Order: sequence, then C-alpha cells, then structure tokens
Amino acid sequence: MATLYSTHCRSYSPLTPSPSSSSYSSYCSSSSSSSKLGHVAVSSSAPKRFLAAKLSVLSQNQNVARMQDGAVATAVTPIENDFPFKKLKGGLLSEPSTDECKDAVRFDINENESTVSITVVGASGDLAKKKIFPALFALYYEGCLPKHFTVYGYARSKMTDAELRTMVSKTLTCRIDKRENCGEKMEQFLERCFYHSGQYDSQENFAELDKKLKEHEGGKVSNRLFYLSIPPNVFIDAVRCASLSASAGNGWTRVIVEKPFGRDSESSAALTKGLKQYLDEDQIFRIDHYLGKELVENLSVLRFSNLIFEPLWSRQYIRNVQFIFSEDFGTEGRGGYFDNYGIIRDIMQNHLLQILALFAMETPVSLDAEDIRNEKVKVLRSMRPLEIENMVIGQYKSHTKGGVTYPAYTDDKTVPKGSLTPTFAAAALFIDNARWDGVPFLMKAGKALHNKKAEIRVQFRHVPGNLYNRNIGTDLDLATNELVIRVQPDEAIYLKINNKVPGLGMRLDRSNLNLHYAARYSKEIPDAYERLLLDAIEGERRLFIRSDELDAAWSLFTPVLKELEEKRIIPEYYPYGSRGPVGAHYLAARYKVRWGDVSVEQ
Ligand code: BG6
Repeated sequence: MATLYSTHCRSYSPLTPSPSSSSYSSYCSSSSSSSKLGHVAVSSSAPKRFLAAKLSVLSQNQNVARMQDGAVATAVTPIENDFPFKKLKGGLLSEPSTDECKDAVRFDINENESTVSITVVGASGDLAKKKIFPALFALYYEGCLPKHFTVYGYARSKMTDAELRTMVSKTLTCRIDKRENCGEKMEQFLERCFYHSGQYDSQENFAELDKKLKEHEGGKVSNRLFYLSIPPNVFIDAVRCASLSASAGNGWTRVIVEKPFGRDSESSAALTKGLKQYLDEDQIFRIDHYLGKELVENLSVLRFSNLIFEPLWSRQYIRNVQFIFSEDFGTEGRGGYFDNYGIIRDIMQNHLLQILALFAMETPVSLDAEDIRNEKVKVLRSMRPLEIENMVIGQYKSHTKGGVTYPAYTDDKTVPKGSLTPTFAAAALFIDNARWDGVPFLMKAGKALHNKKAEIRVQFRHVPGNLYNRNIGTDLDLATNELVIRVQPDEAIYLKINNKVPGLGMRLDRSNLNLHYAARYSKEIPDAYERLLLDAIEGERRLFIRSDELDAAWSLFTPVLKELEEKRIIPEYYPYGSRGPVGAHYLAARYKVRWGDVSVEQ
C-alpha cells in the first residue's frame, strides 16, 4: 500500500471514503504571506485538504516530503482498512465521523508548539449565539479543533467569563448520533471559553485582549482568528484595532468577515479598501455560509467526478437552471437590518449568485482555492448586465388564515412605514459565454412564503424526435428530465425520468431516481458554519469570497438596485404564506420556463 502524507488537515478525499485507505488521499500545503503590519509576521500553514498530490521532492529519510509550494508533509502509516463505512440496516451508511479530524490532528507536527485563539467579536449577538459558538463546540466535539485552542468572546457589554459560559451553554447542542459524553465535552469546551469586554474602536481594549490571549498562548506559536460578527459600520474600526493591537506575534492572523460586504459596488469597494489598509487579501475570509452547505459543496463532486453529468452541462442539453430560496417566516424583528438591504442584497447577490457561479464554472485546473475562484469569477464577469425588465420584486402583506393573522412586512415595528424594500425577488440572468449562451438562469428568493426551501433545478431539453411523444401527451415540457439538488431541508439529489408504468399497456409516468440523504447516510449533516470555521482555521480559502468575485457580483446587481430605488418601483404585494407574486411566473414564461417548484409533483 502506498505511503500517505499529511500535514495538519482533515485528510479527506471527495473520491474515497477513507483518507487512509486509498491513493486518492489528499495532501496539505502551506503558504506564507507577510502582513502589512510591521510586528505581525503572518506565516501561515495553509493546508489544502482537497488537493491531489503535488509532491515534488522526497527528503532523504522518506518520512518528510516537500510540496510544490513549500509546505512540509510528514509520512503517515496507512491504516489497513478498505471500507471504513459501516453498513447499517436498510442500506444506511455510517461513517466513522470523527476520523476526518482526529487523524489530521494526530499528524500535525506542530501540534504541541502552536496555539489557535478564536475571538468572536460581537459575542453577544444573535449570530454568535446561534451559529458561531455552537459550530465551534461541534468542531471541538468532533475532535477537529487543535490541541491548544482558546475561544474569546469580545463585545461591548459587561460580562464575566462565567456569564459568557452560561450564555453560550444555552445554545450548544449535541450531535444526534453521539450523545454519550456530551455533557462532559460541553464542560471541557466551556472551560476554554473566556470573555473580554471592549469597544470595537478601541486599540487600548484590543491591547488588553492581546495581553489575555498571550497568557493563554504561554509562549507557543500563536495563531489568531477573529470572527467579526458585528454591524458593518464598525468592521473597519474593529479590524484596525485587532490588527494593530492584537495580531498574532509569530503565527498567522486571519479575519472572518460576515456579509453585508457593502450595499453596492462603491460601498463594497470602500470596505475592501478599508480592510486592506490593515490586512492582506489572504488574511480576509469573506464568509458566505451557503458555500458551506453540504449540497453546495457536493455540486462540484457531482459534476466533475461523474461521467454522466459534465457532458450534459451546457446549452446543448440544458434548457434552463433555477435557483430557488424561500422562507416561511418574515423578517420578524430583523426589519431594521433587512430594510436597509432587501432580499436582492440579502440573498441573491451573495448566496444564490455564488451557487450559480459554482454551478456554471468551467473545470478548474485543480481543486486549489485560487483555481476554483478564478473560474467562478470568469462566470460572474461573463454575465449579461441585469436589466430591470428581467426582474420582479414583491413584498409580503398581511394575511389571515385559519383564524390566525400574519403580519405585513411593514407591520414590523423596526421597518419604516411605507417601505418599498423587496422581501421577494425573481430575476432572469444570462451568462454570455460559449457554454451557456442563451440559457436562462432564473433566481427566485423570498421571505414569508408557503415553505422553507433552497434548491437548484436543472431542466433539460426535449428529446429530439421522441418516439414516445404520443404516450407523453401534449405538454412535452413536463416530460423533460429535471435534476433537482435540494440544498435544504431534507437534503436530496433526484433526477426526474420518464418511465414505463409496469403492465401490459404502454403508459409512461415521471419517476425519480432519488438520492435522499437521510435514507442513505446515517451521519448528521454538519452546519455550514462548522465547515467554514474549520476551513478558516486550516487556511483553506476555497469556500470564501475573493475581492474580485465580490466586485463582479456587485457590478451585476448595482445598476438594477439603483434603478429600483431611484424610481421607487412599487413591489408586487403577496399574502404572507403564499407562493409569492404572480409576476415571477410571467417573467419565467417570457423565457418559456416554468418554475419547477410549482408543479404538482416536485
Ligand atoms: C442570511 C440572511 O444570510 O441567510 C437571512 O441574512 C436568511 O435573511 C439566512 O434568513 C438563511 O440562512 P439559512 O442557512 O437558514 O438558509
């Protein structure tokens, strides 16, 4: 069996079930960069879990190998285990879930000498409580965090360490499949959580934090990750203070930034410029949590590791592609934030557009972050400017059903009276390149609709000269193949095919070839934030947005947003809990498209 190499990374290959059982095993590499700040030497070990082997030189003792980009990989003894998935009753696959992290940590040569400090800036906010701390705990529980790590909450409110721990403990949950020692693990995790109260624009307060972090680091190599979970108007202040007063002394310093990354091209460029005064691009991790969702991550695997999809992935076979996001609740208390942005900025310009770019990109040179992001940005830059005629906007209004009255958007006390901010939007987009010329890419996103869902629908062309047209009936559109990638909830990938109904006659129906995750895999699907936080700790940038991607995304939406706002276009009102404005159907019909999520059999 081949000798495998690994540095500090989850040894995981999308092509094989076990990192240790196959020559497809992934390799890590590292990169280094110098910070703009004199006293911060950012020398990052940036493992790339998804790279194929790039070994160039084996050292003399054969236990150490150097990667093409300079990182050192140590030899790992292969484990004799061909198929580590356990088959459960009913065909469920149970993965040895902890191995992807535990193996990696075991092989980290610097494990004993280095530390990682994660500071959640804006620790008392909703996102921190609901997503970031629980994701960090899940990583800890799975054995994915490095041996020496500390979590710091930083916010303006006064709080003791004990109070932070009580606050955090309320939102921690255990994995369904491994509850046994959860309480114990929670306690251990909470013991590593601390709090520092400070202003976001105070270098002095960040210097105090620095002092505390140093105490925990105890002279080891310090790596620091700052997660900015704060309002955008204090982003730059916080980055300035963190960089100048609390950067890592001798390891890497990285900053995760949450959207909104501006409101339009100009404000986004200003934000990028501000951040880059204190950080290099490779220290900035712009997070779009949709990229961390399991089925979005799987999109490339589906396409590039199965022969049957890639040849069909073009205008020759695909009639249209649909990206659908719906939520069955309104802004409920978030109106203050939402009203300043609206659904186009909140969902379309980032989550849906990022999925579109991944969906439509050309085959990247490798799975390296830069190669993937290069291809994504090409898609975004090939997009036809979006015109207002190709958009429909809506806003939910009050609706009474079964004796219950659901509020209108403008009933939210945090929303200004008479607001025209869209809570629903649909758009028809086009990619003017050789692969996608003429194919409509439709997007639809809305709040307070009839269900909660996110999916990608690929509708294929008609079968030319179909012998069975007579058996299909007059509506040929209904008989075309459709591939559905249901991102959430109840993750699934299914392909609609025409099939003969068993019997002596020749009746056809539409059936699904169905990969239903809950029926196939027993493992709980990790939250998107877990994957992304781990990636940031490991220096894997593949799922984070590069500044040129962001510029291209804003260039597409800024003109139409400006026009909507300047002309004060009135949204089409739709009842809370409905399927949204009828205008979305007319928009699709203009391109001979029918939304896939409205047919009887979805
Ligand atoms: C956020 C939006 O980015 O994504 C929210 O700001 C939205 O408005 C949320 O509710 C949806 O995320 P998820 O993971 O719950 O689908």
